[in-house]
Amino acid sequence: MRVLVTGGTGYIGSHTVVELLQAGHQVVIIDNLSNSSHRVLERIEHICRKKVEFYEIDLRHPSALNDLMTRNKFDAVIHFAGLKAVGESVEKPLAYYENNVGGSLNLFQAMAQSGIKNLVFSSSATVYGDPDRVPIDEHAVLRPSNPYGRTKLMIEQILTDLHASDQQWNVILLRYFNPIGAHASGLIGEDPRDIPNNLLPYVAQVAGGRRAQLSVFGDDYETPDGTGVRDYIHVVDLALGHLRALEKITSDPGLLCCNLGTGTGYSVLEVVKTFSRICGITIPYTVVPRRAGDIATCYADPTYAQKTLGWVAERDLLSMCADAWRWQEQNPDGFGGNND
Ligand code: NAD
Ligand code: UFG
Repeated sequence: MRVLVTGGTGYIGSHTVVELLQAGHQVVIIDNLSNSSHRVLERIEHICRKKVEFYEIDLRHPSALNDLMTRNKFDAVIHFAGLKAVGESVEKPLAYYENNVGGSLNLFQAMAQSGIKNLVFSSSATVYGDPDRVPIDEHAVLRPSNPYGRTKLMIEQILTDLHASDQQWNVILLRYFNPIGAHASGLIGEDPRDIPNNLLPYVAQVAGGRRAQLSVFGDDYETPDGTGVRDYIHVVDLALGHLRALEKITSDPGLLCCNLGTGTGYSVLEVVKTFSRICGITIPYTVVPRRAGDIATCYADPTYAQKTLGWVAERDLLSMCADAWRWQEQNPDGFGGNND
């Protein structure tokens, strides 16, 4: 298939592009590089021994996008491009609605104009907010608790309306749980611009000596050890979920929505302990008050993805930590400091 990947130089996008190329698909990436580096492209090419076509395009500026879509015939689009920092979305809601919702609308309009109606969209477990029960299945109530999560839910709703208006739209909404880890080559991985918000990159930077210690946000949750429990999923397993979604779209069209998670929750302290074991370094930490907006426990019921996409996550926490550590050790400054 010839696949357009928006946000393809980002963390999850780059890993998905590698799996697409290795499976024999043709890929065109667009990204505005607002949270990624063009250096990712060389690394992808090195891993796959293939050239990758890239255009620096911002989804908020539709003319370049429309131009690309009319000059090319794509079989499908995988839409990763978006802003993703929960805290920042609370401070700058307009930027999030403009970028995520506005950018997505431009993309869907360009797709409609050029007759491309196959789409896989990066949604998030954040659409569930604080769940009534775990594991969380796709029928759980949707009540995101921050602007970032609301942008994801709005885009899901736009796509649901689009499919209802025209059944030729084939859409798969993928709700990711907590992607971590890196490609086994150590050549691509997560490269946060500033101080990491997320647990794994922070732990990896402490182990690598770039940060002094981890702050554990609360140990008084109703969980086995009091720290937050999440469903961490290896980014390569997540990438492979997109390949299964593309196969599903072409073999069995329609609209569907799937969780992509492992079904197992690990606490912050279990992650820290596993990472320490992998790298042989003690990770110093202090317990600080809970982070606003955090929930106690979140993990997926992944059975629907298994049933509909034939997909299951295969990599365990040890392999997630080992691959994240390899990436950190080989690239202590990520793709090169300031991501330029
Ligand atoms: P990322 O920031 O590494 O990748 C997103 C990419 O989109 C970046 O390369 C960025 O430069 C690009 N981008 C942003 N706005 C753009 C625009 N207007 N035009 C063109 N490019 C633009 O993030 P990621 O972790 O790879 O996440 C990919 C997608 O998955 C996002 O939509 C995110 O919301 C979603 N998601 C991520 C997580 C997670 O924990 N990483 C969890 C659930 C869902
Ligand atoms: N945590 C710490 N210290 C840190 C960072 C995190 O103790 O420095 C804890 C959090 O309190 C939480 C757990 O580690 O209990 C995981 O936190 P992350 O920030 O790594 O992940 P979240 O579950 O908060 O959110 C992530 C993404 C969201 C996405 C969500 C569900 O940031 O965008 O997973 O997919 F929506």
